[in-house]
Amino acid sequence: MDLKKILREVPDFPKEGIVFYDITTILQSPEGLRAAIDQIQDKLQDLDFDYIVGPESRGFIFGVPVAYNMNKGFLPVRKAGKLPYETKSKEYALEYGTATIEMHIDAIQPGSKVVIIDDLLATGGTSKATIELIEELGGEVVQLVYLIELGFLDGRGKLEGYQVDAIMQK
Ligand code: PRP
Ligand code: ADE
Repeated sequence: MDLKKILREVPDFPKEGIVFYDITTILQSPEGLRAAIDQIQDKLQDLDFDYIVGPESRGFIFGVPVAYNMNKGFLPVRKAGKLPYETKSKEYALEYGTATIEMHIDAIQPGSKVVIIDDLLATGGTSKATIELIEELGGEVVQLVYLIELGFLDGRGKLEGYQVDAIMQK
């Protein structure tokens, strides 16, 4: 299934000049949802890893079903103030603002191999901050998989040295 055909593009959201890639039109299609999860999972078929990390909130939508299907644990990366136990935090910039993300300090056993899944790679700010959190907790990031990559923002440049895969280029 060609997911590009059902991905909605919304101009000037959340700010003038930003084209927002709206995945809700993929999620609402039973075939689209299945294809998106299956295509992300296909990228991980032969990989040895322990956990999937998904950044809030769209990373949860795609990360959890893949973790469930592949019998791996899922570790949420949340926006500041949402996780109840002791956390590590990182502030970062994204295409339309700044944010702070957190992980629980005991989420990862040192030496664990981790895959990051998110819906979209834009500037790479979210992913870079997520990598830093994982590495500070002793984990190793073995792959990052996105449904959509905005090539013109060169998020990949920020993730040099890591294995980056995307299903769709925009
Ligand atoms: C979006 C998207 C990625 C990130 C990509 O999340 O889901 O996580 O931005 O941008 P970047 O590569 O420039 O960091 P957002 O923080 O908007 O949160 P949401 O998933 O809750 O909408
Ligand atoms: N996250 C960062 N930039 C985005 C965009 N242009 N569309 C959807 N999600 C995004």
